[in-house]
Amino acid sequence: MTNERGGIGKTTLTCHIAWHLAEQGKRVVVLDLDKQCHSAGMLKAEFEQIGPVQSILDFDPNEEPPALACFKNTRQIVELTTDSPQQGQHIGAYVRAIRAGLAKHYDYCVIDTAPAWDGRNLMALIASDYVAVPLDPDKTARQSLNEISQSISLANKVRGEGNATRFGIVFNRVQTTSEVSKMLMDRIGQALPANVVPHTIPHREHMREAALLEIPVWRLAKDTRRSAPIVREVVSYIVDQAEREAA
Ligand SMILES: Nc1ncnc2c1ncn2[C@@H]1O[C@H](COP(=O)(O)OP(=O)(O)OP(=O)(O)O)[C@@H](O)[C@H]1O
Ligand SMILES: [Mg+2]
Repeated sequence: MTNERGGIGKTTLTCHIAWHLAEQGKRVVVLDLDKQCHSAGMLKAEFEQIGPVQSILDFDPNEEPPALACFKNTRQIVELTTDSPQQGQHIGAYVRAIRAGLAKHYDYCVIDTAPAWDGRNLMALIASDYVAVPLDPDKTARQSLNEISQSISLANKVRGEGNATRFGIVFNRVQTTSEVSKMLMDRIGQALPANVVPHTIPHREHMREAALLEIPVWRLAKDTRRSAPIVREVVSYIVDQAEREAA
């Protein structure tokens, strides 16, 4: 999950993907790279908290880790990425080692990132089969997209030729009555037709209420027909794309 801007829905989407997969009985690990650990906080009722740890390579592979886990603030990732991009081989090898370690225990890994550009975000982009970019279709959308495309290009350099990461833009917090938002979404859709998730999440109070209660929106004890199904659609789409890329 990436977007260097804050309050866009990275944590909201991360948690909904994790809940969605966990409900299907999948083994899920969430890496919360944001120092504020919002994802780790939201998931705490259902996900065993591991960390803060020096490195996600730290956990003992002989021990059976919990089926649902959340690593908080994996510090060592920062140190490793003080390498310059020219030494990208080193980062790439490290990411592969982490992936192989996690794959022994988990079916899915969801990574939440901080609203800033740092080495950890780069690591996440290098490691991911699929990158979801929540985007608020407002006046910062263009700037966000520029930043993200530069970051993804850098990650792709490390991933190497023919191994570019796929990304999908999720319009979130959409004011459905705004003509300006609609125009911006149309423009972005025309420019990047293969990279826009075909469902947009409207701005709904339900989303904020669910976040406060630390539950997925589909578990709110009220009529959520205007918000929950669309979130399910988006989450399923992202999981589907990631599975396709990983295959
Ligand atoms: N579709 C939506 N409708 C209404 N509120 C939303 C929606 N999506 C997210 N929110 C709310 O917006 C706020 C910011 O969302 P979230 O924490 O997921 O963003 P973020 O990108 O992770 O932010 P940060 O970069 O600061 O970590 C939260 O209060 C969340 O509940
Ligand atoms: Mg967040």
